[in-house]
Amino acid sequence: MLILGIESSCDETAAAVVRDGREIVSSIISSQIEMHRPYGGVVPELASREHLEKIEPVVKEALSKAGVTLRDIDAIAVTQGPGLVGSLLVGVCYAKALAWGLEKPLIGVNHIEGHVYSVVFENPPIEYPALALIVSGGHTNIFFIPEEGKYKVVSRTRDDAAGEAFDKVAKMLGLGYPGGPIIERLALEGDASKLKFPKAKISDGRPDLSFSGLKTAVARHIREAGIIVTPDGGPTQEIKDLAASFQTAVVHALVSTLEKLAVELGPRTLIVAGGVACNQALIGSARAAAARLGVPVHFPSKHLSTDNAAMIAAAGHAKLKAGVVSDMRMTADVTLRLQNYDLDQVDAKNKKVRYRV
Ligand code: KG4
Ligand code: ZN
Repeated sequence: MLILGIESSCDETAAAVVRDGREIVSSIISSQIEMHRPYGGVVPELASREHLEKIEPVVKEALSKAGVTLRDIDAIAVTQGPGLVGSLLVGVCYAKALAWGLEKPLIGVNHIEGHVYSVVFENPPIEYPALALIVSGGHTNIFFIPEEGKYKVVSRTRDDAAGEAFDKVAKMLGLGYPGGPIIERLALEGDASKLKFPKAKISDGRPDLSFSGLKTAVARHIREAGIIVTPDGGPTQEIKDLAASFQTAVVHALVSTLEKLAVELGPRTLIVAGGVACNQALIGSARAAAARLGVPVHFPSKHLSTDNAAMIAAAGHAKLKAGVVSDMRMTADVTLRLQNYDLDQVDAKNKKVRYRV
């Protein structure tokens, strides 16, 4: 079965052809990073106009690289949300028109669920229950997945997403956009033990995350230590140490929360995905945690970590298999949530077992 996936939720216009939910036949990504770079972040109006320009050629290229025509496609999966409304609408309207014209099933996919499925191409099959840390520029959540297609948010950020924190700190240091890869590169030459940033305390004791305090602590440090941001002089050792210390604080917050929840919930697979999952410090730390827990951890490779349409097609395939399709009333949903399962209810029924392996 061939699924055409379409993704346009933020600043990548992407299309992919995926066979049987596991094999990428083609995957095309047109990134707008260069266009948004001068502004230090995504400009929504520019993004939607660029999606409009690119959607047709990107879909055509995905089909031609796959050596297929629209008639060979069995279903169309598209990111329905969350994301920027103008951007989402381009992909959604295009996919609806294709599905209607071709009389093929249409599947609206949650972008975050897409990131979960980004690991299916290069790893062994996911064994459930799974615990997935999805870390991107827009989202930071940990999901408990008792079985395929069921999601319970067990941790979320109370403020900024982890990728957003990378982007904001890079901006403060005058390092450019997107910040994650730049900070990671500088951190390699920095000493992470130079600065100790406090771990955020969540007052109600929930295993949630928070990155805005860390961002403020970095801003205060820049001010108090008198760090001068000099684009022409290149980053100083002080900035490299700051990058390393900041990255360590983010990675520690993410992985310690994931590990704590894994001890509690006993998953059989850990998943770490989303744009920030390219980060080697995060990968190393999550691997070490997985080894301590004795549980396999699945990461997507770099080109599947950031936004792409192959992951959307894979998630769409799973929904189609489960008989979940959308109709022509489906539309972009900026705040689409990924939560359809209540841990407490099942716990009450099954107190002793609690998903231990
Ligand atoms: O998943 P993604 O492409 O878009 C969203 O759905 O948000 O993630 C983009 C985010 C950006 O914030 C970027 O700075 C971050 O992922 N990122 C990284 C790295 N590469 C990308 N963060 C840390 N280290 C990296 N190597
Ligand atoms: Zn994303």
